[in-house]
Amino acid sequence: MLVVDNVCMSFKGRKILENINFTVPENSINVIMGKSGSGKSTLLGIMSGLLKPTKGRVLYLGKDIYRWGDFRRSHFRNKSIGFVFQFFNLLPDLTAYQNILYPAALNPFSRNKRKEVDYLIGYLGLEHIIHNYPPTLSGGELQRVAIARAIINKPKIVLADEPTGNLDDDTADQIIALFKDICDKQGISFAVVTHETRFLNIADAYYRIEKGVLQKQEISQTTVEPVMKQKPSETLKNRTVKATKKKKKN
Ligand SMILES: Nc1ncnc2c1ncn2[C@@H]1O[C@H](COP(=O)(O)OP(=O)(O)OP(=O)(O)O)[C@@H](O)[C@H]1O
Ligand SMILES: [Mg+2]
Repeated sequence: MLVVDNVCMSFKGRKILENINFTVPENSINVIMGKSGSGKSTLLGIMSGLLKPTKGRVLYLGKDIYRWGDFRRSHFRNKSIGFVFQFFNLLPDLTAYQNILYPAALNPFSRNKRKEVDYLIGYLGLEHIIHNYPPTLSGGELQRVAIARAIINKPKIVLADEPTGNLDDDTADQIIALFKDICDKQGISFAVVTHETRFLNIADAYYRIEKGVLQKQEISQTTVEPVMKQKPSETLKNRTVKATKKKKKN
């Protein structure tokens, strides 16, 4: 669906990414790991349409997104892509509810989204904090609000940059289970940059990036720590469900 084709990226002559090939198939979770400074956020920026690569192409449904005009590309960013950031990037002066609705308000093609916001609030178990402001929310609540904001426009792909980097293990488990649930139920694909090996439990594909070179890896079950599978609505009740491996689709 989204194809990074032989992409190179340099900043002021300094090579950051070299001949990157990476595909996000439909209905898949793709995990990228690598050391700090290896180019992970740069790659997500290129995939999102925000950062034009020095060389190579990014294809969305077969079309080169960097050959589109600014309007077409920003529509793609708003409609087809959702972002989840390590530090949530919520607007502090808007309530949780207003933060979730914000991208829909920016989308000139969106209809009234209130029903969908209400559905997401229930799905993510956020009813109790929905009129509170981000500075008063816990890390897990902030990240769930950020996830709701990322998927309100029903994107095809969510790009997540260290989405559990700022969370404790239990809360990280809930977010990991939530990504799997969103992928299964809503057919949204994920490209996740993370240091969290438990993400490999739900991954369909796993890549490592080293010194700007990306390589696909085997997912070895022995190196993966077990993760609790919790349904979002059940997280508050703390019920654990066994993780299940999703069948692969390309
Ligand atoms: N706009 C820019 N101008 C110049 N250099 C940049 C720019 N953006 C990123 N870099 C450099 O590119 C390299 C890769 O940065 P990037 O943020 O992609 O790394 P990362 O793998 O996401 O690291 P981290 O795990 O710490 O988030 C770094 O050395 C960074 O300083
Ligand atoms: Mg980064």
